[in-house]
Amino acid sequence: MKSFRFVLPVILFCLTELHAQESLLGNAYMRASTSLDGEWKIIIDPYENGYYDYRHEAFDTQQPASKNAYFTNSKPKNKSDLVEYDFDASESLQVPGDWNTQMDKLLYYEGTVWYKKSFDYHKPQAGKRVFVYFGAVNYRADVYLNGQKLGTHIGGFTPFNYEITDLLKEKGNFLILKVDNTRKKEAVPTLNTDWWNYGGITRSVELIETSGTFIRDFSLQLNPENQQELIGSVTLDGPDKSSKNLTLSVPELKLETSLRTDVNGKVTIKQKVSRLDYWSPQNPHLYKVILSTAADTLTDKVGLRTIQTRGNDILLNGKPVFLKGISIHEESPLTGGRANSKADAELLLGWVKELNANFVRLAHYPHNEHMVRLADEMGILVWEENPVYWTIQWDNPETYANAQKQLTDLITRDKNRASVIIWSMANETPTSAPRLKFLNKLASHARELDRSRLLSAALEQSTLDENGMVRTINDPFAATVDILSFNQYIGWYDGLPAKTEEIRWQISQQKPILISEFGAGAKYGYHGDRLTRWSEEYQEYLYQETLKMLDKIKQLRGMSPWLLMDFRSPRRPLAGIQDGYNRKGLIDEKGHKKAAFYVLQKYYAQKAPD
Ligand code: GCU
Repeated sequence: MKSFRFVLPVILFCLTELHAQESLLGNAYMRASTSLDGEWKIIIDPYENGYYDYRHEAFDTQQPASKNAYFTNSKPKNKSDLVEYDFDASESLQVPGDWNTQMDKLLYYEGTVWYKKSFDYHKPQAGKRVFVYFGAVNYRADVYLNGQKLGTHIGGFTPFNYEITDLLKEKGNFLILKVDNTRKKEAVPTLNTDWWNYGGITRSVELIETSGTFIRDFSLQLNPENQQELIGSVTLDGPDKSSKNLTLSVPELKLETSLRTDVNGKVTIKQKVSRLDYWSPQNPHLYKVILSTAADTLTDKVGLRTIQTRGNDILLNGKPVFLKGISIHEESPLTGGRANSKADAELLLGWVKELNANFVRLAHYPHNEHMVRLADEMGILVWEENPVYWTIQWDNPETYANAQKQLTDLITRDKNRASVIIWSMANETPTSAPRLKFLNKLASHARELDRSRLLSAALEQSTLDENGMVRTINDPFAATVDILSFNQYIGWYDGLPAKTEEIRWQISQQKPILISEFGAGAKYGYHGDRLTRWSEEYQEYLYQETLKMLDKIKQLRGMSPWLLMDFRSPRRPLAGIQDGYNRKGLIDEKGHKKAAFYVLQKYYAQKAPD
């Protein structure tokens, strides 16, 4: 009996996990949806008491699930019945939003918080389908609807969804998530990061209703090899997906073309176009694109441009461009925590424009979709990054699979955003053979998914001579990337600002060079002379001296100094100065601009226009 009891749960567990691999719904942002944002009931569960029984066996693998499993949302059957939890009598958190900045007791919390949202739903018309779509949940989410496990998602910064058509009721649905932000060595990112480990349902949750056979995804871009040709594909999903007629129209181009899917519901697009209004920072022109079948219509706004390199140049629509950038962490001065709203994006990218910048490095993980869609509208070029940060477990196949899945979902989500020109594979990863293999495999995968964009990674510089004054890039991954990017902190971690005058750069690679980080910490309002560490004057002086040094690098084609705004980090405890914040921002967490902001603003204003 015992052995049978063991076998059945394992089979069920595997079946439920199948949900977990459901492919990402494309274009979720533009689909009609019902929001589940707002107040969710929560239970803080550091011992995962709602997930394991007292023998530490997962309730997930037991059928029927015990009433002690929080995901059953059980209530006492009578006045004598014992149930030791009650979501409806518990506290609440707002979704979207990290838990750390919503409750003081959760500021440093790392572990499990259960979330529950009850909702009614109109009975979908016959043949309609319903999906639940999460913008992001950090870090692991176990998702249940009406007591049934939908799946498990790993990765704190990419969207995911589950079809729930057959599980929905008209009244009394309860969607429950077990959210666990515990850092793990094998995770992506790994244990050590210089940013706050914000946990929670950090981006919006939507119910998306589609027709039985619907347009699941599409891509549309200019052929990198031919600026007079549109290329892309459309994928249908549903019982009638094969050999299906659909129309692609771009009204402004007077383009209307009929397409027909293959047996798998896919069709590729190859369409001659002329007299295009190319997307660029000076002219962020977006075309309305309409895809329609008899049962479904999907629209989007897509910019058309090409981005390439030629020797040391980065070419936007065939013309050299200099990336006048700034790095950004996904934090909001409006909430003091994870940014997630359009208002956050408008504030952050408004500051980018004020800086006379045309480029942002969205570090160190995929940011929310508002950022890239607003960058499309504002004409800001974007570097997006996979959280392969510092000392990842290079030899662990599950770690690689996790990194590849997060990169795949990022590219799936943002492949139609003209503003996105660079996919970054990693940040400051120590060179080794396993790391090179890992990153090269990621780079090949990215190129398979998207040949239209450039690849990079924030590498580290190294010393060429014995007295350390000649610097170079000695990293084998430099051969793989299209843009050679690296971080350097001469004048902050490496000597004082005057040292920049003694440094010579000897970089052999004939590729565009982008300085992905430089900077210095300063507490807003703390003043001293330019050698007083943490003063605004020190940071200002470092910017002045660094910019002079970098201008001598002949392959220099861009930079994204570290960074726009002070951000929380558990690695920055210096009382009275850092107080839990990394102070390298040009603006502090309350929106106050420091002196160095104006140094960079002036430098970009004088930089040759793109
Ligand atoms: C590194 C790292 C950043 C970090 C920065 C710093 O370059 O990439 O994530 O915040 O240095 O030390 O401030």
